[in-house]
Amino acid sequence: MRSRNKHVAMVETPDALPADAAAAAAFEHDHVLSRHHFTPGEHPVVRIEHLNKAFDETQVLKDVNLDIWGGEVVVVLGPSGSGKSTMLRCINLLEKPTAGHILINDVEITGTAKTDVNKLREKLGMVFQSFNLFPHLTAKENVMIGQMKVLKKGKAEAEAEAIRQLDAVGLADRADFKPAQLSGGQQQRVAIARAVAMHPDVLLFDEPTSALDPELVRGVLDVMRDLAENGGMTMVVVTHEMGFARDVADRVVFMEDGVVVEQGLPENVFDHPVNERTAAFIGNIADA
Ligand SMILES: Nc1ncnc2c1ncn2[C@@H]1O[C@H](COP(=O)(O)OP(=O)(O)OP(=O)(O)O)[C@@H](O)[C@H]1O
Ligand SMILES: [Mg+2]
Repeated sequence: MRSRNKHVAMVETPDALPADAAAAAAFEHDHVLSRHHFTPGEHPVVRIEHLNKAFDETQVLKDVNLDIWGGEVVVVLGPSGSGKSTMLRCINLLEKPTAGHILINDVEITGTAKTDVNKLREKLGMVFQSFNLFPHLTAKENVMIGQMKVLKKGKAEAEAEAIRQLDAVGLADRADFKPAQLSGGQQQRVAIARAVAMHPDVLLFDEPTSALDPELVRGVLDVMRDLAENGGMTMVVVTHEMGFARDVADRVVFMEDGVVVEQGLPENVFDHPVNERTAAFIGNIADA
């Protein structure tokens, strides 16, 4: 029976696995599902075990289990409201999980762990749909500020890195422009340069191209592709860009209703989905 009072349903989850056992189990599970080249004894960079998240009475994530390997590109798909953003936000503790475990390099950040959230966010870069640049700073200053404030780099060093990263996203000639003087696609590339300049262990992307005019999407996807293929960056990307997912993803994860319904190699998930809900979703976006 449903309680009249607002309450969060208590979910019991097991303790996090010991690191070696977790790595062995994750390898057993993932090695057929990902294009990632596994090395013997490798441990995943991110471990998500029995992750649950509720907002009031609404259970939004229900026992999500997922491991992300160093250099792996994981694309997360799913209908609106399925919990994709909530999962990303739990990984960098923008949301506090209700139950379960998240470990970064085998160090737990959830439960009773005393995590330094600022240190954690140095390791986990995030790129949002809405860019979130500082409007009063130039592109270069936007890329410098985190390096100086958080990593305590000197100005000259931060500036050199900013110029390097802006060059890598094709914006060396826009370094002194403010966000309002840049297109949406250029702003998003600045946001990516800013995240990469922090040299995170993992970059999380939440629909990085959905706010862009169609003609600007390609430039941003090309930058992400370059980061994945030449930068070796570990990336978790929520996106509906099927071409990108097919070409660049090592693994595609389909979520619905707070659950990972299906995951695997892009060609398997797209061309031979096992679950009928995955098939319906992919059919819909392919027709869109
Ligand atoms: N801060 C919040 N308070 C209450 N409910 C929330 C909050 N954030 C998210 N939710 C709910 O959690 C569910 C999952 O939301 P989430 O944003 O993770 O979905 P999503 O898969 O990213 O969807 P979209 O594709 O639309 O971005 C939704 O039902 C949403 O209403
Ligand atoms: Mg979302």
